[in-house]
Amino acid sequence: MERVRVALLGCGSVGSQVAVALAPGSESVAELSARAGVAIELVGIAVRDASAPREGVDGVLDRALLTADADALVTRADVVVELVGGLEPARSLLLRAFEHGASAVTGNKALLAAHGRELHAAADAAGVDLYFEAAVAGAIPIIRPLRESLAGDRVERVLGIVNGTTNYVLDQMDSRGETFDAAVARAQELGFAEADPTADVDGWDAAAKAAILATLAFHTPVTIDDVHREGIRSVSAEDVAAAREAGAVVKLLAVAERTTGVDDAGNEVEGVQARVHPVLLSREHPLASVRGAYNAVFVEAAGAGDLMFYGQGAGGRPTASAVLGDLVTLARHRQDGSQGPRVLGHADLPVLPTDAV
Ligand code: HSE
Repeated sequence: MERVRVALLGCGSVGSQVAVALAPGSESVAELSARAGVAIELVGIAVRDASAPREGVDGVLDRALLTADADALVTRADVVVELVGGLEPARSLLLRAFEHGASAVTGNKALLAAHGRELHAAADAAGVDLYFEAAVAGAIPIIRPLRESLAGDRVERVLGIVNGTTNYVLDQMDSRGETFDAAVARAQELGFAEADPTADVDGWDAAAKAAILATLAFHTPVTIDDVHREGIRSVSAEDVAAAREAGAVVKLLAVAERTTGVDDAGNEVEGVQARVHPVLLSREHPLASVRGAYNAVFVEAAGAGDLMFYGQGAGGRPTASAVLGDLVTLARHRQDGSQGPRVLGHADLPVLPTDAV
């Protein structure tokens, strides 16, 4: 293979950073191609309105690369990079890409948390890769470690601060004694929190990431519907102050763990559980030191012991770093005909309900 054709779907804050890094003729794409061992060629960027001005991209990339026809674009690619977000048309576009023999990179946590099983199965059936480092904790390498580095280990538990907005809010309440409302308003002013902060403060974003982490850690399909979810709206300034008095801190954690439960016949069974809720964490725990809008994931594995991954969980440049890393790997795989380890297919543990925490 002399070149790997890349189709980019979406040109928002992350997509535009990826587009600029892949600008034809640029030093950056030459460097990425050298690392992949094959020429990476951006063949098109699918956007909703191909005639709208694009800050950061206009003047850097030829506007002829922009197209509103994502369906046609995916059939012209060897690797599709999906950064449109949401369930549809992202799901259909990835399935179409796999049918055409293309591999895919996605940062779409909602899609993987809802349709991961279908998408992994479709990629496996087509003999292509689906990589998604950017879907959990932005720039932090956590997908690859769970999927590849720890493939020879047994992960027992994953604890994650995987939502920067809520970590920022709780941190402001802890360090400045702010109320929940004041801390959310400050997060909105600084651009961490959306005008409608529901997806973050009610735990939806963290629950999608918990489903993905649990799926990878236990090689078992876990969807967002399996994740017990409780956000931080009910955490008061008094709760946070009482935690401080007790040498603890309140954190919103995504937890994925092996556990035991009882099946319908009354037998004890091994299963997995995934949940998101505020936790009173000792200030001695490594996750207690994660301040502001940062993310961290703490992994407990039978062989490796405890591991912690820390860094920026959001933002255009940091998240594009994860996307581009996946792209270099998949370009390499296209070149040498290899594939990454399978996500599913070797275990299917029951997902046990979480009644109360
Ligand atoms: N809104 C998310 C956060 C970033 O605050 O961490 C994207 O997943």
